[in-house]
Amino acid sequence: MALHGHLLLSLLASIALAAAAVARDRGTPIDLVPAAPGASLAERARDDRHRHAYITSVLASRGGGGGRRRVAAEVTSPSSSFSMPLTSGAYSGTGQFLARVQVGTPPQQFLLVADTGSDLTWVKCHGGGQSPTSTGNVFRPADSKTWAPIPCSSDTCKLDVPFSLAKCPSPTSPCTYDYKYKEASASARGVAGTETATVGAAKLDGVVVGCTATNAGESFASAADGVLSLGYANISFATRAASRLGGGRFAYCLVDHLAARHVTGYLAFGCQTPPPKRSKSNQTPVLLDPTMPFYTVTVESVHVAGAALDVPGEVWDAAKGGGVILDSGTTLTVLAAPAYKAVVAAISERLAGVPRVRFDPFEYCYNWTSRGPEVPKLAVRFAGSAVFEPPGKSYVIDAAPGIKCIGVQQGEWPGVSVFGNILQQEHLWEFDLKNQWVSFMPSSCTK
Ligand SMILES: *[C@@H]1O[C@H](CO)[C@@H](O)[C@H](O)[C@H]1NC(C)=O
Ligand SMILES: *[C@@H]1O[C@H](CO)[C@@H](O)[C@H](O)[C@H]1NC(C)=O
Repeated sequence: MALHGHLLLSLLASIALAAAAVARDRGTPIDLVPAAPGASLAERARDDRHRHAYITSVLASRGGGGGRRRVAAEVTSPSSSFSMPLTSGAYSGTGQFLARVQVGTPPQQFLLVADTGSDLTWVKCHGGGQSPTSTGNVFRPADSKTWAPIPCSSDTCKLDVPFSLAKCPSPTSPCTYDYKYKEASASARGVAGTETATVGAAKLDGVVVGCTATNAGESFASAADGVLSLGYANISFATRAASRLGGGRFAYCLVDHLAARHVTGYLAFGCQTPPPKRSKSNQTPVLLDPTMPFYTVTVESVHVAGAALDVPGEVWDAAKGGGVILDSGTTLTVLAAPAYKAVVAAISERLAGVPRVRFDPFEYCYNWTSRGPEVPKLAVRFAGSAVFEPPGKSYVIDAAPGIKCIGVQQGEWPGVSVFGNILQQEHLWEFDLKNQWVSFMPSSCTK
C-alpha cells in the first residue's frame, strides 16, 4: 500500500490543558487557560499516543511505497524572506502551535496548526456536500480568483496528495482525498487544488492546499482552521517556501506552551532567519526520506545529571527499528520503552525526596507546592556531538497547580521515539533541507 497522508492526528480531538492554571516561575500573575469541557492532560496524552501509532504505521509502510514520490530538489537563491508568529494553542484548547496564514485572492485568513508531521496543507472548506460544523474560518474557493483544482488524472493527485481517492470519473475531475484514521475513528474529506498563500508581505503561489469539506470525528479542530504542512514533501508548504524563499531552510522557535497569551514565537523562511551559529555543538544531520514527511535525527546518548544512561544503541537508530523524530505536532514526548524506563528512573531517583501524587496518565508526579528541588539536568547528545539541553520545565512539566510530572510517555519497543513540542520549546530549530541538517539553540523565541 502506498504511503498515505499525514494529517495532524492530534487535531482530531482538540484538548485543553485542563489543569493549566499554572503560576509561572517568574512569579507573574496566574494565567488561566480556558479548559474545554471534559478536556484533560490525559486526553492530550492519548492523542499523542494515537499520533505515535500513526507515525509508526507510516514508518512501517516504508519500502512498500519507497520512491513513490520525489521531493522538489531545485532550490532557487533566496530572493526574499518572511516570518510569521507562532502562538501556543494552550489558550484555545490544543497542544499544538498555531500560525496565521492567508489563503486565496483576495486573501482569506486562517489559523493553522504548524505541523512537521504533515505533507498536505489544508483548510476547512465551504462548498462541499455538507457544511463544516466548526465555527472557525471556512475557506470559500468560489470567492478566490487563484483557486485551481488539481485534476484527478494528474501525477500530483496520484503521487503527492495523501489519501487521494482512485475515483476519477473524467481526467479533469477534481482530485479528492479522504483521510481515515482507524485509531481516532475520524476522517476528513475534500478536494485538492493549488492556491496562493500570503504570509505577511510574502506571497507564494501554486501552493497545494486541501479544501476539507467534511470531517467526522470528535471535537474536530475547534481551535484551528486546518493544518500548515511543515513536513518534508514536495507539496508541503515548508518545502516549497524554503526552496522558493529560504535557500532551502526554515526555522521555528516555540515559546513555552504555557507562556502568557500575547507571547509568540515564530516560523521563519529565508535570510532573516536568525541563523544559529553552525558549529559541531549545535548541529546534527537530519535524515530525510522522500516517502515520508518526518524529520529523523540520530541520538547518540542521553544523560541525566551528567551521567550517561544505559540505553541500547538500537533504540536511537532509525535503521534498527528505533530512531527519533522531531515533531512539532506532538505535544508530549514519546520514548521507546528502554529509553523511557532509563530516563524516568534516572530523573525520579533524583526527585525521590519529593512527595508523589497520582496524576494520570503519568507514572511520576509530584506535589510541588513547596519549593521543589532542582530538576536534574537532561542532556541529549545527537550524532556529531551536538548537545541539546532542554530547560527542566520541558520534561518535568506543570500538570496542575502544585503538581509536576515527568512529562514523557512510554512507546513500544521496537519503535520510534518522538520529541514533542513541549520538549522543543524555548529553542530555535532550523531545518536545512538542502544540506540535510538541523541546528538548534536556546532562545526565548520572542525576537
Ligand atoms: C512533485 O514532484 C513531482 C515529481 O518530481 C512533480 O511532477 C510535481 O510537479 C511536484 N509537485 C510540486 C507541487 O512541486
Ligand atoms: C501537597 O502538599 C501540601 C502540604 O503538605 C498539602 O496540603 C496538599 O494537599 C498536597 N497536594 C496534593 C495534591 O497532594
